[in-house]
Amino acid sequence: MKIETYVLKNGIEIPKLGLGTFRIRPDDCEKTVASAIQNGYRLIDTANVYMNERAVGRGVKNAGVDRDEIIVASKIWPTEYKYKKAGKAIDATLARLGLDVLDLLILHQPFGRVEEAWRAAEEAVKAGKVRMLGVSNFDEADLEKINTYSTIKPVLDQVECHPYCQRRALSAYLKAHDILLESWYPLGSGSGGLFGEKAVVELAEKYQKAPAQVILRWQIEEGYLPIPGTKNPAHAAENADIFDFSLTEEELASLRALDRNERFFKMKKGIQKYMVFFQRMKYDKQK
Ligand SMILES: NC(=O)c1ccc[n+]([C@@H]2O[C@H](COP(=O)([O-])OP(=O)(O)OC[C@H]3O[C@@H](n4cnc5c(N)ncnc54)[C@H](OP(=O)(O)O)[C@@H]3O)[C@@H](O)[C@H]2O)c1
Repeated sequence: MKIETYVLKNGIEIPKLGLGTFRIRPDDCEKTVASAIQNGYRLIDTANVYMNERAVGRGVKNAGVDRDEIIVASKIWPTEYKYKKAGKAIDATLARLGLDVLDLLILHQPFGRVEEAWRAAEEAVKAGKVRMLGVSNFDEADLEKINTYSTIKPVLDQVECHPYCQRRALSAYLKAHDILLESWYPLGSGSGGLFGEKAVVELAEKYQKAPAQVILRWQIEEGYLPIPGTKNPAHAAENADIFDFSLTEEELASLRALDRNERFFKMKKGIQKYMVFFQRMKYDKQK
């Protein structure tokens, strides 16, 4: 199974599809990651708050694929954005993953001391610990702000994006600034009725594909990078098997019409709860 690639603004190639690992517990995560890599995945997304970085690292190591071929991405959380703390958090992420170099470091949220965290992240790049930088959940204003002080620019912005939440304005901004849109919840978190949408089901029947494949193909046609999460190897294989068909303009329009600007994750409300919760998390206690 061959996953096509995009070329980022820094010239580095990145797969058009990756594996998300949110909510995959360490016990499942190691074999999920190893099996995904053995089956063609070359981009693995984790975060220190997912509490599975050690298992992701073991999966990457045990997959038996040249480390240079794989892009490992992880994120630091705003509770660690203070300059010195951010530097330590990056080192701790590397240690948990068991890697000398992290391919993609992402600031998980646009809250708190972003500028200090970015400075620490840039220093990690200059020290050879990190290859490239990205952001997550940043909107246009957050990106404008980071542009005023950054010397290394973010290559991507990882945001919630699926047919019910298409992020049109942000997507246009990102395209204009050559920042790749990486979609989290690309399948609407596997719930919420997306798989049963008439437009999705009709295209699935036409192309003899699963609804998930139609939605992921739509993501690719829009120029996005989806990172569907799954611990089911059959789903992982299905999700990557989307490079042998394409959707017509009319079909894309039928999926674009599903946009209702609906976020499954209510960030502004949810974030308060998560900020407090994650503050108490002991990342080093994971398996
Ligand atoms: N930056 C952020 O703030 C943020 C927030 C959330 C998520 N993320 C990232 O984005 C990734 C994706 O998000 P997500 O995993 O929460 O949501 P998702 O990819 O939209 O959906 C995952 C759900 O869909 C199911 N699924 C996957 N492939 C399927 C298929 N082919 N057919 C049927 N069901 C399928 C999975 O169940 P099975 O395991 O049974 O396949 C799982 O329940 C995360 O893993 C994480 O890396 C980032």
